Amino acid sequence: MHNPIDPELPEDDLDRAAAIVRQARRVAVLTGAGVSAESGVPTFRGATGLWEGQAVTDVATPTAFARDPALVWRFHNALRAHMKVAAPNPGHLALAALERRFGNRFTLATQNIDGLHQAAGSRNVLELHGRLSRVRCAACTYVADRPGEDLPDLPRCPECGAMLRPDVVWFEEMLPHGVWREAYKAAEGCDCFLVVGTSALVFPAAGLIEVAGSARARILEFNLERTAASSRVDLGLYGPSGQTLPDLMRRL
Ligand code: OAD
Repeated sequence: MHNPIDPELPEDDLDRAAAIVRQARRVAVLTGAGVSAESGVPTFRGATGLWEGQAVTDVATPTAFARDPALVWRFHNALRAHMKVAAPNPGHLALAALERRFGNRFTLATQNIDGLHQAAGSRNVLELHGRLSRVRCAACTYVADRPGEDLPDLPRCPECGAMLRPDVVWFEEMLPHGVWREAYKAAEGCDCFLVVGTSALVFPAAGLIEVAGSARARILEFNLERTAASSRVDLGLYGPSGQTLPDLMRRL
């Protein structure tokens, strides 16, 4: 355990988590696909994950896009169809409520590309891996949010005719610089860090947990199970985040 829990904190894990959050001056959160699982959005890893039976190198790298853009678009269009019908779940709503409580002392960084945090009312969301509803031109500066639209397998830029691509971060690509800098600052400057629904296997995003730990923030993990980050956290709340996060909010 990184920062030992004060012995005077309550015994029940959720009560202890609530006490830690209540005492916090600044809260930062990192979310992953697990927070959207209860909204019907597939996660990436695990038996029913998107990467099961699907090589990321075929559909989520710039090399794959250069080799076979139609295959890459078919994968992303299937995901867009999933996300079109997905609605925020109580986990997203609880995080939006937490932001309202802390105001500008709260930052939410997400690896998710589904936009569900914003749909739940979260305002200050740092999208580390971009957003699937947005497209951008592979050649010029055209960027547009085009949610709910059925795109063809090879969508073209309305301005220059070159190929459009999803405005998401693929493997081998850099994170958007400003967004990463803000997330890093938030992790470094918080005294309570929530890690929600992520396997903590993909870097640099997972590195934010280490950044927060090094700054001596209390780290709380919300997941179905232990993860690569569990040995670094102060307290793990294991169960569906659509239940554990609202449970936490009720105790604040
Ligand atoms: P993963 O699929 O790797 O991990 C999902 C995590 O959510 C696992 O640890 C599950 O145990 C947990 N989980 C599942 N259902 C849950 C629930 N109801 N409540 C709480 N936890 C639950 O997804 P990420 O960690 O988000 O990147 O993956 C990180 C990145 O890898 C993604 O952003 C994506 C992917 O490749 C890019 O596409 C660049």
